[in-house]
Amino acid sequence: MVFNIQENERKIFYLIGETAQELGFPAYVVGGYVRDRLLARPSKDIDIVCVGSGIQLAQNVAAKLRPIPRIAIYKRFGTAMIKHKSLEIEFVGARKESYRYDSRKPSVEEGTLEDDQNRRDFTINALAVSLNDEDYGYILDPFGGLQHLEQKLIKTPLEPDKTFIDDPLRMMRAIRFSTQLDFIIDPETFHAIKLNKNRINIVSQERIITELNKIISAPKPSIGFKLLFQSGLLQIIFPELVAMQGVDVKNGRAHKDNFYHTLQVLDNISKKTNDLWLRWSALLHDIGKPITKRWDDEQGWTFHGHEAVGANMVPRIFRRMRLPMDHKMKFVQKMVQLHQRPISLTKDNITDSAIRRLVFEAGEDIDLLMQLCEADITSKNPKKVTRYLENYEMVRGRISEVEEKDRLRNWQPPVSGELIMETFNISPSKEVGIIKTAIREAILDGDIPNEYEAAYQFMLQKGKELGLVKVDV
Ligand code: CTP
Repeated sequence: MVFNIQENERKIFYLIGETAQELGFPAYVVGGYVRDRLLARPSKDIDIVCVGSGIQLAQNVAAKLRPIPRIAIYKRFGTAMIKHKSLEIEFVGARKESYRYDSRKPSVEEGTLEDDQNRRDFTINALAVSLNDEDYGYILDPFGGLQHLEQKLIKTPLEPDKTFIDDPLRMMRAIRFSTQLDFIIDPETFHAIKLNKNRINIVSQERIITELNKIISAPKPSIGFKLLFQSGLLQIIFPELVAMQGVDVKNGRAHKDNFYHTLQVLDNISKKTNDLWLRWSALLHDIGKPITKRWDDEQGWTFHGHEAVGANMVPRIFRRMRLPMDHKMKFVQKMVQLHQRPISLTKDNITDSAIRRLVFEAGEDIDLLMQLCEADITSKNPKKVTRYLENYEMVRGRISEVEEKDRLRNWQPPVSGELIMETFNISPSKEVGIIKTAIREAILDGDIPNEYEAAYQFMLQKGKELGLVKVDV
């Protein structure tokens, strides 16, 4: 295993070592940075632990850098952070005892380097590299973290119960690292997650969602969701997803397992995009299915209206999960609402107006919607997959045709509300809305072209029908 570091990092480590030496206490690089460098992954945050005052060390290091960086000091936690070029370096004195992440009274009891390594979450995160003269660059690995990196293993340094009781978020971190790095969780460690799962309830939703989003952002998110499910954590943090799991059979007819189908769709889309919100759309696209599931003697299992029910659930899920309630939520809601529409456009005899309506409703997100639909194909039959993909290709073709003709993306009606009011000398009223909707519908139905003159004439006609009189300006 090679420890690959860049030149600017080498320089700063040397400087930190030299400064610690002047202060008379040892310093080490620890945690995620060491792990990521050994795995040749990018990482910009560097954690320095010293057996002394982290704040003092940070101040003395900062004084030697040019330009002198600003130091952020968190006295209560005994930590200090400096930003130097692209690096963020955090300094802390070695500590004993637990992490106490959420505690208002953080534990700041001084300890040795071993104490500090003991209280870390996983062996691969407990590696330390010496910055001290006598053994500069030496890796201190008390728990076999190096071997576990080779074996691709997530394991707690201490007895797992203790590590998870100290900070229950670590149960999710174990699953997150396993997903990001494609590592196995040690069976004893995983067993402890199952036993301690209910302790996740004392962790703030903000910390939980950070980990969940990291799982969703991983190359193959299904790894994490399966582990969350097997451990019982998913049942606590995301019951709506779990409700999709399972297959019902009646009269020999079964429906697909919507939980595993969803995970497949999420993996599919993750091969095409890193967009977190498109990935969330994949995760939630069928979330309305359990509620709408019905048995019909002729059709078998049906999920009528699951897209509308699902779209309705999106704001509630986002609020509870502490996800942003802004345009990102609206985007996911729109994707869930519209995900069945392109499929209905793959049939024969589809009119331009049906295509036009979808383009109008999806707006600038139409391409992302098509991506979601393509990811939604999870058939194991390659012939079917090819046929479905060809169908969508055809829909894409029709969309560009209609778009070229009508320029509907980000559509603004050619006649505005102001013009309607001016023309008939009326104030904001029901009539303005009626005329605007009628113009929009006429354009979408293809009755009139998407042009100013046609829309203007149509407005005059509608106004007349409503008993309005055009005034001359
Ligand atoms: N740590 C821990 N328990 C936690 C969080 C962090 O023991 N609940 C320790 C680990 O040693 C970890 C280090 O603090 O390596 C830094 O934590 P953090 O920056 O959150 O994670 P990284 O391991 O750096 O990974 P990432 O940046 O991917 O979150």
